[in-house]
Amino acid sequence: MTTDRATFTLDGHDVPFREGQSVLDAALAAGLFIPFLCHKPGYEAHGSCRVCMVRVGGKWQTSCTTPAAAGLDVESNTEDLVAMRRDLVQFLFAEGNHFCPSCEASGSCTLQAVGYELGVTTPHYPPFWPTRPLDASHPEVILDLNRCILCELCVRASANVDGKSVFALSGRGPTKHLVVSAESGRLGDTSFSADDAAAHVCPVGVFLPRGQGFRTPLGARKFDVEPLRIAALRRAEGT
Ligand code: FES
Repeated sequence: MTTDRATFTLDGHDVPFREGQSVLDAALAAGLFIPFLCHKPGYEAHGSCRVCMVRVGGKWQTSCTTPAAAGLDVESNTEDLVAMRRDLVQFLFAEGNHFCPSCEASGSCTLQAVGYELGVTTPHYPPFWPTRPLDASHPEVILDLNRCILCELCVRASANVDGKSVFALSGRGPTKHLVVSAESGRLGDTSFSADDAAAHVCPVGVFLPRGQGFRTPLGARKFDVEPLRIAALRRAEGT
């Protein structure tokens, strides 16, 4: 690639970047894919899923929160980093209810798409079977909290885009979970609407619109049409 912009190297490739870009964004814009889960263009980097972890000058760092800088030596596609990402995704599958064949989000789920990307096609760890009740109190949207991967995208969307702060995370470690900011804890007792950005940002299948189950047929869903890697690179092209 010929450019007069400053560059860093990623797995031996020169990656040009703009001031303020992260290693992940610059890599994607240069056509080099690094898997990610909690990152979403237009949202501030969160750094919680760790799936985008790379090695920078020998140190493990999340690429979505690492500012691109001239001369960085970044490794991503190494055996140990790929194995670590696969482990993280397998933990997430074990931690919640992710039965893809019966999930409405199958085919549009970023966790599933990252799983395919990393070769995760079968369960690996015993499931946790957490007890997280469905919230069916809202007239337009059901919440299946068993699928939450704690990426906080709905929390960020509700607070920063919708200006409502309907969601938050509560607890620590294994007890950490998504909560609804209402005295009752029920979505139906908030100002949440199906038109909110928070209703459409979930990378898995927590937010289910009522009355329209499985509305997109198999084969026509988001990642059926365009696999995650291709979609992410296309979206980042020229940024
Ligand atoms: Fe970077 Fe989740 S995408 S930590």
